[in-house]
Amino acid sequence: MTSTAQGELKQNPKTPVASRFSMRRQKIAEHRKSLPIASVEKRLIEEVQKNDILIIVGETGSGKTTQLPQFLFNAGFCRGGKMVGISQPSCIAAVTVAKRVAEECDVQLGQRVGYSIMFDDTTCSSTSLKYMTDALLLREALVDPLLSRYSVIIVDEAHERTVHTDVLLALLKKVQLDRSIGNKGLEVEAKTNDEIGGVLRGCQISPLKLIIMSASLDARVFSEYYGGAKALHVQGRQFTVDILYTVHPVTDYAALVITIFQMRLNLLKDLSKRKILPLAIFSALPSDQLMRVFAPAPIGFRKVVLATNIAETSITIPGIRYVVDPGRVKARTYDPSKGMETLDAVPTSKAQVLQRSGHAGREGPGKCFRLYRQREFEKLEDSTKPEIKRCNLSNVILQLKALGYDDIFGFDFIDKPSRSAIVKALAELHLLGALTDDCKLEKPAGDQMARLPLDPVYSRALILANQSNCLEEMLITVAMLSVESIFYDPPREKREEARTSRNHFASVEGDHLTYLGVYRESNEFLEAENSEEAEVDQTLRKWCKDNFVNSRSLKHARDIYRKIRGNVEQMGFNVSSCGNDMLEYRRCLAASFFLIAAQRQMDGTYRALESGEIVHIHPTSVLFRSKPECVFFNELMQTSKKYIKNLTRIDPVWSAHHHYNTEE
Ligand code: CDP
Ligand code: MG
Repeated sequence: MTSTAQGELKQNPKTPVASRFSMRRQKIAEHRKSLPIASVEKRLIEEVQKNDILIIVGETGSGKTTQLPQFLFNAGFCRGGKMVGISQPSCIAAVTVAKRVAEECDVQLGQRVGYSIMFDDTTCSSTSLKYMTDALLLREALVDPLLSRYSVIIVDEAHERTVHTDVLLALLKKVQLDRSIGNKGLEVEAKTNDEIGGVLRGCQISPLKLIIMSASLDARVFSEYYGGAKALHVQGRQFTVDILYTVHPVTDYAALVITIFQMRLNLLKDLSKRKILPLAIFSALPSDQLMRVFAPAPIGFRKVVLATNIAETSITIPGIRYVVDPGRVKARTYDPSKGMETLDAVPTSKAQVLQRSGHAGREGPGKCFRLYRQREFEKLEDSTKPEIKRCNLSNVILQLKALGYDDIFGFDFIDKPSRSAIVKALAELHLLGALTDDCKLEKPAGDQMARLPLDPVYSRALILANQSNCLEEMLITVAMLSVESIFYDPPREKREEARTSRNHFASVEGDHLTYLGVYRESNEFLEAENSEEAEVDQTLRKWCKDNFVNSRSLKHARDIYRKIRGNVEQMGFNVSSCGNDMLEYRRCLAASFFLIAAQRQMDGTYRALESGEIVHIHPTSVLFRSKPECVFFNELMQTSKKYIKNLTRIDPVWSAHHHYNTEE
């Protein structure tokens, strides 16, 4: 199926290559012209020229994300090496949109059009349109506080209100002010226009244009936040969408599959000869597979795309006529009183529900199947709570501190997080050694932690490891902890074999040492095979397959390792290894993650020491059966029960020792 899923290019093998490409180009040009935003290009550019802050709202699919940056490029906003930066709430949006725009511009990705996400940067010095995650743009501000290479910054999908977008909205207000104050100062000093131009070129300061884009039609919040900034509405295209609810409550995802098959049998009878081509899109999907969902279904197939909420507004998949909405979304929630963060499937908001069904009517009348009862819809919240009100703030507060914002309580948030959440984050950062007693940034540890693209707990682990000669091992650990499941679950007939293989890696100490072992063995294999650079991927895939390791995860972990290793080397750390002296490494692990420990209870459950919550060891952990008395964990997740994942057993002797040390 994979080979036929490439879309229209493969469907006419007899068409000469050159003409196939020009057909594709022509199609793209036509598509661009047909987008609702195309007819207002001139007006939009005029408004950007007139207003320093502009809010643009328009339904998904109207062309905001892919077209506006191209309009700005054509209008000369990238002259003199300046860039238009477009922030996205997720990596996947940044990657897919940049690829699409590069194709539309008929340029190679990474040249005029590129993307930059935490562990993958495809931009170069001649890049003009740069798509990136909101988190990454925030990090750029740490290095270049005036964001001086950008002439325009577009905060896209602002309605999603990710925590990074919220902080960006505040930060950019300040950057814009700083850049205009810089210019006013210059105007007084320089007398003629020529002189001003010269001074500006010399300082490379020019005013910053700010554009906030949103798919939610209510622009008020943003407009008010920016002192009554002008809002423009781009007309969308919306055909009628029939909404169908279930009669009975639905309790599991099997209903989703059943609905898809019922649709195929009943609704699509005339077309039922078409086979189903299942595709998925979610953030952990490797980028070479992302673009498959955008390609048209090959003849004889109908695409069924299984998507996370990434497809709500951030990406628009062409050709959708039917939407099946299970009514749930995976969302992070954080309870500052317990210090506990969970990733849960929770009911969507009405706003999300409407975004989802809207997709069925972009190209013609459509249908949306909501897998819940109408009365449940009525009960939903109107809109989703901004992430900043429901997440652990320690990461962003550390960044704000590093950017020089000391007064967090007085910070100009668009929606203020609760006082208790801020207090909790400050206390946590203090405990991790990132802040001084009077909540100033601790030098150099706090600065170093802010610069690493990691959770502060992991950054601190690297700093500790640097002091105890096991930085190499900790870099591997942190990289492995940052990816999704390392082990791969094979089909039933191979389960036994997989279990044996997993037992081979399993360390009695726990998951951290197990992961370290996996990484090291894969490295040894690569070294032994002595593969050419170009063959490394293939060799690694083979090793993973033989060892029931998830090759995608391992490859991702290797990328993260390389990136963070580069980061710590830049900070002057010397990456040394403790070799086989695992004691050193285990001590360092315990010291790093001591705060997140859990103790076994009489009934075999565990009690998390900080929150007092009753938790269970996740079945994927190598300690699932042995149940040691005391463990620390890196992840707490709630599904049917509260589970802890990624654990290592704590030797009670060490913990006593550790207490002794800290109280001294
Ligand atoms: O940002 P907005 O939701 O307004 O629209 P967009 O993302 O710029 O998408 C405009 C059009 O481009 C939609 O009709 C998409 O179907 C199409 N598109 C595509 O075909 N392939 C992509 N990778 C991205 C967008
Ligand atoms: Mg968009």
